Amino acid sequence: MPAQLRPAGIVGTGSCLPERVVTNAELERIVDTSDEWIRTRTGIRERRLAGPDTAASDLAVPAAVKALDRAGIRPEDLDLIIVATVTPDTLFPATACLVQERLGARGAAAFDLSAGCSGFIYGLAVANQFISTGVYRTAVVIGVEILSKIINWQDRNTCVLFGDGAGAVVLQAVAPGEGILGLHLGADGNGGNLLSIPAGGSRLPASPDSVREQLHTIHMNGPEVFKFAVRIMGEASLKALEQAGLTRADVDFLIPHQANIRIIEAATKRLGLAPEKVYVNLHRYGNMSSASIPVALDEACREGRLHRGDRVVLVAFGAGLTWGAAVLRWSL
Ligand code: UT7
Repeated sequence: MPAQLRPAGIVGTGSCLPERVVTNAELERIVDTSDEWIRTRTGIRERRLAGPDTAASDLAVPAAVKALDRAGIRPEDLDLIIVATVTPDTLFPATACLVQERLGARGAAAFDLSAGCSGFIYGLAVANQFISTGVYRTAVVIGVEILSKIINWQDRNTCVLFGDGAGAVVLQAVAPGEGILGLHLGADGNGGNLLSIPAGGSRLPASPDSVREQLHTIHMNGPEVFKFAVRIMGEASLKALEQAGLTRADVDFLIPHQANIRIIEAATKRLGLAPEKVYVNLHRYGNMSSASIPVALDEACREGRLHRGDRVVLVAFGAGLTWGAAVLRWSL
């Protein structure tokens, strides 16, 4: 990072999860699956699902309020709100604008960011630019998903994997040597068809046919996404570490995107990390897309798993295809 830039760091975290817990046993009653298959193939035991009246902003706002409280920052002092999501309340206005209004963050710039499950890392990278260059003082980055509303509940290949939730972080400039030390983002649009929602956009607007054919729900080639994920999680982490001038031997803690325990184990192995250095909450929440990492970060922080000075790697992959990794020196 050039000397004239100030490092941006996380100064507060928060999360919000729906209360309703749905176990694998409950899914056995909906599709032809088994608790044993889900546990052994994915590591997931249960997930949280939002009620019919809950939209993304309803989880995003409490997550942001908690992060602001912990940072001791008033909403009116926010300069920037980024909401990473593939399940916004509406196509427009942006969910970030709805969050801005409900937080009372008058005047803050606000926009949504769509990068699949890598959305939170992309959001962190964007906020980092604004803060490290001194353009803005305080930003909140929120990862939120209500994936239960875009799932085909008859498709056992996808419906057992996902959950709903929101996580938020507040970013400000921190002391030199702390905060975000390295970032790596990437995309490969050639793999876009491996994980998508075909209808509901300008290519295939919603119609009775698209709804009947479930084209407004998640379509995924699981095995291909799996292969990509196993490769990219290690590669992206190593690139972000290199950018920070560190190696895998310097990593104190890894918070990977929580999609599949076998993908997490492969990344752990690639980075040569002991399992106790890796945060996993996938068994309780399933894959919450862009909310996975900020929720895990908030929990790890509150559980006392992160210590000031720890070198923490965050790494994600997702629809696009996209990937992203960040290396932080923990400053809380
Ligand atoms: O955040 C990014 C989002 N996506 C991902 O991260 C997904 C990455 N991919 C994966 O995690 C894995 O590919 C899955 C968990 C989705 C699937 O695991 P897999 O080991 O790749 O299984 P598969 O898709 O190759 O399917 C194996 C078998 C198939 O049966 P046959 O054809 O061998 O008879 C599937 O039909 O397992 C069957 N199967 C199921 N069986 C019971 C697929 N889903 C289920 C299910 N319950 N829920």
